[in-house]
Amino acid sequence: MPKILRSLLAVMALMTVGCVDGVQSTLDPLGPVAARQMSTFMVTLWVSLGIFAVVGSFLVYCIAKFRYSGEVTPDTPLPEQGHGSAITEIALILISVGLVGVIALPTVQGVFWVGTEPENEEVMVIEVTGQQWWWKFDYPDLGVTCANEFAIPAGKPVRFNLKSADVQHSFWIPRLGGKMDLLPGQDNWLWLEADPALLAANNDQLSTADNKEGMRFEHLPDDYPFQGYVLYGQCAEFCGDSHAFMKFRCLVLDDTNWQKWVQWQKSDASSTLSPDEAKAGYKTFAKNKCGTCHLIRGTNARGIVGPDLTHIGSRTSIAAGWLENTPDNLGHWIQNPGEVKPGNIMWKTGYKRLDENGEVVANSQVEVDDSEKDILVKYLSSLK
Ligand code: CUA
Repeated sequence: MPKILRSLLAVMALMTVGCVDGVQSTLDPLGPVAARQMSTFMVTLWVSLGIFAVVGSFLVYCIAKFRYSGEVTPDTPLPEQGHGSAITEIALILISVGLVGVIALPTVQGVFWVGTEPENEEVMVIEVTGQQWWWKFDYPDLGVTCANEFAIPAGKPVRFNLKSADVQHSFWIPRLGGKMDLLPGQDNWLWLEADPALLAANNDQLSTADNKEGMRFEHLPDDYPFQGYVLYGQCAEFCGDSHAFMKFRCLVLDDTNWQKWVQWQKSDASSTLSPDEAKAGYKTFAKNKCGTCHLIRGTNARGIVGPDLTHIGSRTSIAAGWLENTPDNLGHWIQNPGEVKPGNIMWKTGYKRLDENGEVVANSQVEVDDSEKDILVKYLSSLK
């Protein structure tokens, strides 16, 4: 095989690796917004492919037909020079304008359609706040607040009001629709919906609590209290050290599970430990000043700088979707926040900092040792 062909194949293979599982593929829409955006993309793709095929064929034809077959020397005369053809040029202009029209029509219609909330339907509002490097989700009509994992009811349009607490981020659930920036000092919004029919059609490929056979995606824990789908989201705008770790998960629930989820989210924290153990756990939490930044509803931990930990034991992931929520991962995250998520403030202002020589030094008396880590892991994991 020629070397150039082999290199091309290698590059193509590498490019397709990213498309294998489709967890965040925009080409596998699961809602009306994503489907509409993909159909617009397909129109553009087919028009472009058509142009490529016609122009490419014509080029190949001309090269073959008008190729000079004699030996080329400095004395070879130039071929006869043409000076254009008005008819050809006008025809090409008209065809181009026509093709631009074919692309523009669904694009412009789509821009307005995507930019308008669905009428005649109740639209639920979720306020999304992007922070370095996690996500806060508030449901103003329901009195629910959660972090990094949130839920939406299937088949209902949702309006996301997008805000940033610090720098520019971008909210993106690829399988539900295109991304939108979160800008400091400016409010953006978009609406998305998960289509139950599309979800059902992709059932074998999505994570659900009752479908663990042959799943290609990481799945919900066995004791996860809700049945539903997990869609993956990602910050899509570079926002500092840990931008790549600023992920989130969107649970899509049917009506029954959705109602259950809302009730559960509204409730205060409840620990599955014995009251004494829970008390000891909270004491360690308080001693390490975790409550300065984190909220555990129903306790005196009322911080709002970091993610709400009220129901952290029931989340599927920790560290903004970066790690599966297992005791080992939680312990590692608590003890080494700077390693798991470089630059985050739990590390910088909580435990450690870099001195002027770039050496890591303890910031204060706050340092979680192994025995405290075990107590914290047990306590936090028990907050269901
Ligand atoms: Cu937030 Cu990238």
